[in-house]
Amino acid sequence: MPRLIVANWKMNPATTEEATQLVSRVEHGLLGLSRQQVETVICPPFLFLPAARMFSHFASLGAQDIAAWTNDDLTGEISGEQLRNFGARYVIVGHSERRELGETEEQIGHKVSLAVKNRIRPILCVGHGVKKSHTAATRKKIMTSQIKNGFSRLKAPEGKYVVIAYEPVWAVGTGRPESPEAAADVLASLSAFAPDSRMLYGGSVDFRNAAAFAAEKRIDGVLVGRSSLKAEDFVKIIKAFA
Ligand code: PGA
Repeated sequence: MPRLIVANWKMNPATTEEATQLVSRVEHGLLGLSRQQVETVICPPFLFLPAARMFSHFASLGAQDIAAWTNDDLTGEISGEQLRNFGARYVIVGHSERRELGETEEQIGHKVSLAVKNRIRPILCVGHGVKKSHTAATRKKIMTSQIKNGFSRLKAPEGKYVVIAYEPVWAVGTGRPESPEAAADVLASLSAFAPDSRMLYGGSVDFRNAAAFAAEKRIDGVLVGRSSLKAEDFVKIIKAFA
């Protein structure tokens, strides 16, 4: 299975023109690379999903969130059904920035399950609440409970649709990544709880360190924030994993 590189644009960029230019430059940089070598997912803000969809022949479309409920009367939410009908293949769920805003484990469990029901692969982020000062056993306990909650509404065979992203909070957006070896060790230990899931690392991956993460065969790919906003940098990261 090809490795998976996910761009999380968060609340960027400011205009549709910039969004279109960014995907088009990434596409240009990847000419000649096939989806069999590496799978790229672009998760723009909802507003720019149409711009990203114009390029969906080279990258899969992903969303940054999905409603936790199926009730139609929910101002401001986007449902799994709408995302599926639009062509989204992936959705980020449980990112630490959303957990920080009050997203609960219960909501995350519902989001994972609604994504899977709509044939959208959830990228379940774990690592929120984990501190560098915690022992390895405590860190593992926090993250396995996040995985169990995320999987709580799935039937066992559906676990294979979920992608796990280990994102230590101290590494997200700080320019101070976890070491590739330590990240691979964590992913290997978490994979006992999600044996059929692809295991990603996220947190300050950039074009300089991408090759070192790619060299760790236990890492199935990366979730990239800041460095996915510069086309040249993001292309270098993707190529490191191809
Ligand atoms: P970063 O973000 O690459 O800017 O650290 C990663 C993420 O938040 O998914």
